[in-house]
Amino acid sequence: MSKQEQVVVAVSGLTKGYSQGGANVAVLNGLKMSIRRGESVAILGVSGTGKSTLLNILGGIDPADSGQMSVEGQDIVKLDAEGLARYRREKVGFIFQFYNLIPTLTAVENVMTGWEAAGKPSNLGDKAARDILASLGLRDKLDRFPEQLSGGEQQRVAIARALVKRPAIVLADEPTGNLDPKTAAATTELLLEQARQFASALIIVTHNPSIGQHTDRTLVLRNGVLEEQQHAASAPEAYAA
Ligand SMILES: Nc1ncnc2c1ncn2[C@@H]1O[C@H](COP(=O)(O)OP(=O)(O)OP(=O)(O)O)[C@@H](O)[C@H]1O
Ligand SMILES: [Mg+2]
Repeated sequence: MSKQEQVVVAVSGLTKGYSQGGANVAVLNGLKMSIRRGESVAILGVSGTGKSTLLNILGGIDPADSGQMSVEGQDIVKLDAEGLARYRREKVGFIFQFYNLIPTLTAVENVMTGWEAAGKPSNLGDKAARDILASLGLRDKLDRFPEQLSGGEQQRVAIARALVKRPAIVLADEPTGNLDPKTAAATTELLLEQARQFASALIIVTHNPSIGQHTDRTLVLRNGVLEEQQHAASAPEAYAA
């Protein structure tokens, strides 16, 4: 496979602004990025630089103002509402800071929602959910409800829900922002391992520069564009405004 064929996410010239007091304030300003199959990327940047805005565009939740975006060769910009909904369900796995699990569903049932939304055969969903939860270390907690799980365990369920369909792209917005440092590190490790195993392109938005020591690349969002961070070790300085 050539390098070009391995590119899963290709974005260029992406712009997005919001009107503020009558003026348009640019958040993304001709942003460009390219991510290969199975590659993991950490995105750092001070608060308000547009990290969540970027993830929402990549995930087909919000439209960009202009620019190009393709995922697995599919032109996302051209999709209508129905096409975008399908793209989100089939190609994108989202992981949020506060888990967003459904409280009335068990761990297995929560994960099955991710499987079924992607249109996978429902008779295989239960096994797929149990298998991925087991590989995330939750073999003994499969049938628990979210409130019966710790924060770190709930986030592992959310990771399983996002990944069970083997999405082309996994978008995680401060996924460990609510966890203690030790649990955060272990959870990140599991997320990276699972995404690698499923060959999903993984984008982790984080305020924790040390996560970049574990991803393939670190990018810093600044002035509406992404800058490549050569050394994860130097991330703290770059991270400061
Ligand atoms: N719906 C909206 N309407 C107007 N302005 C918005 C909207 N959403 C985001 N913004 C503005 O866009 C900028 C980027 O917001 P965004 O949430 O993407 O930042 P962020 O990098 O994720 O910040 P944080 O690290 O605090 O989560 C901010 O200045 C924010 O106020
Ligand atoms: Mg944000």
